[in-house]
Amino acid sequence: MEKLNGKKKLVVSVFISGRGTNLNSLIEFSKKKNSPIKIALVICNNKNAKGLNYAKKHKINFLVVNYKNKNKAENKILISLKKNKISLICLAGFMKILSRKIINIYKNKILNIHPSLLPRYKGLNTHKRVIKNKDKFTGCTVHLVNSKLDSGKIILQKRIKVLKKDNEYSLAKRVLKVENLIYPIAIRKFIETSL
Ligand code: GAR
Repeated sequence: MEKLNGKKKLVVSVFISGRGTNLNSLIEFSKKKNSPIKIALVICNNKNAKGLNYAKKHKINFLVVNYKNKNKAENKILISLKKNKISLICLAGFMKILSRKIINIYKNKILNIHPSLLPRYKGLNTHKRVIKNKDKFTGCTVHLVNSKLDSGKIILQKRIKVLKKDNEYSLAKRVLKVENLIYPIAIRKFIETSL
C-alpha cells in the first residue's frame, strides 16, 4: 500500500504483450479521484508492443523482458516487482504463462482478464471457437491466477450476445470493449471483498 493524497492505494503492475487497450483502461481507472490503485510498473515481453506507448504517455515505469530464457526473464520481473513495491499484478493480454514460482510469491494477488465465459474456452482463439460452435452467448472474465491455465476463482464475468452476423473479428471487437469496462470494476470488487 502507498499513501497518495492521504488515501491508501494498492500498488499495481500491469503485464502486457501487445495492443494494451486493457492497460489503457486500467490507467484511466487509476487516475480517477477515488481510485484504489496506483500503477507503478508495466511489464512487457515484446519490445514492439503498441501498449508500451500508454506507459510512456503516462510516464509509468516499464520493463521489457526478453523471454528467450523464461527463468532469467522471471527473475528480472521479480526483482522489478520488489523494487517497485508491487502488491497486485494485473495480467492484461500477457501471452506468457507464469511459473509456479511467481504465482506462489504473489498467491491470490494476480488477476487476469480472459475473453470468454470461463470455464468455457480456456486458452487461445476463444472467439473462433465460439463462432464455430454457434454459441448464442460469449463474454469475458476477470479471475485470479493459479497454476492451472485460466482456472482460478472468478471475480467478475459479463455475458455478451453473439449476433447472427458476427464473425470472430466483430465478436472480438465487441468483447474487448466490455473487457475494458469490467476490468476496473473487477479490481475494485476484488480489493473490497478479498483483500
Ligand atoms: C484481450 O482480449 C485479453 O482478454 C486477451 O488478449 C487481449 C489483449 O488485448 N487475453 C488473453 O487471451 C489471455 N489468455 P489488449 O492488449 O488490447 O488489452
